[in-house]
Amino acid sequence: MSEAPSPSPPAVLPSDATPRPVPAVQGLAPGVIADWLRWGTSELDAASDSARVDAEILLAALLDSERAALRLRHDEAIEAATVLRYASWIERRKLGEPVAYIVGRQGFWTLDLVVDTAVLIPRPDTETLVEWALSLLPAGSSARVLDLGTGSGAIALAVASERPAVSVLATDLSEAALDIARENARRNGVSNLSFACGAWLAALPAEAAPFDLILSNPPYIAEGDIHLAALRYEPRLALTSGIDGLDAIREIVREAPAHLTSGGWLLLEHGHDQGAAVRALLTEAGFGNVETRRDFGGNDRVTGGGKP
Ligand SMILES: C[S@@+](CC[C@H](N)C(=O)[O-])C[C@H]1O[C@@H](n2cnc3c(N)ncnc32)[C@H](O)[C@@H]1O
Repeated sequence: MSEAPSPSPPAVLPSDATPRPVPAVQGLAPGVIADWLRWGTSELDAASDSARVDAEILLAALLDSERAALRLRHDEAIEAATVLRYASWIERRKLGEPVAYIVGRQGFWTLDLVVDTAVLIPRPDTETLVEWALSLLPAGSSARVLDLGTGSGAIALAVASERPAVSVLATDLSEAALDIARENARRNGVSNLSFACGAWLAALPAEAAPFDLILSNPPYIAEGDIHLAALRYEPRLALTSGIDGLDAIREIVREAPAHLTSGGWLLLEHGHDQGAAVRALLTEAGFGNVETRRDFGGNDRVTGGGKP
């Protein structure tokens, strides 16, 4: 069967099928999975750069299937109730809602994470920060690690799952985000981490011992940045930080040294054009070995330094 997107609704019935009730939505007629994927793709073509992939992820989630496995099921028919939900999900996607919020899931590192609009959708570029963090934590390390602004728990969970003997404290200002992070820890069977609510380092319990590694992907977009319109479904608390986007980073750099062991590291994710500014902030705060690493797209993405 051809994979080309079709602008028209799926063929009425696969040739060997008996008639089924026609879903009363947008005049859609029943069809097999391949038909619905073609239809979904054509519906999303104008709204999404990844229309086919989006349609596959949405339908796979509804059918409780892996995306790859869906390709082996192209000739299967779909129940009317599923078609109705699929059509409503396609409509939400057409309006710009991210696929991850529609299906409520996002893959990050080796983890399958639950997400909702209380948390940023974890991005592949943040794996640059995870890779650097793991390179500072030898296998078997029992270091103390802090993840500031954990959101879905993506960074904290990736590090904690790869280094089961480390202890990770994950913080956020948002209780709703911490609920999601706790749920992700439970679902992924990761127990070497704890959680605290509060503003950056003020979230730490008074008696907290210093950390060997402090990590953060804080909000770093400038208020008024034109890209914010495309991110309108994600929480503003996770996105913006002052007129140049650097307020949170300034605060973390200022407060972190008091909570780091001697020789401990601070790693910060930031915008592609903020590397020089973050290097300057770390250097001014007395950090050594300051450097910036690039993400998979070749952009400056994470800057770190060690406390002498
Ligand atoms: C860019 S998101 C990063 C989420 C997650 N770490 C990730 O990489 O996907 C920034 C996070 O910082 C949190 N946040 C914003 N302001 C904060 C503050 N003053 N103190 C602590 N966390 C804050 C937000 O709620 C959000 O979860």
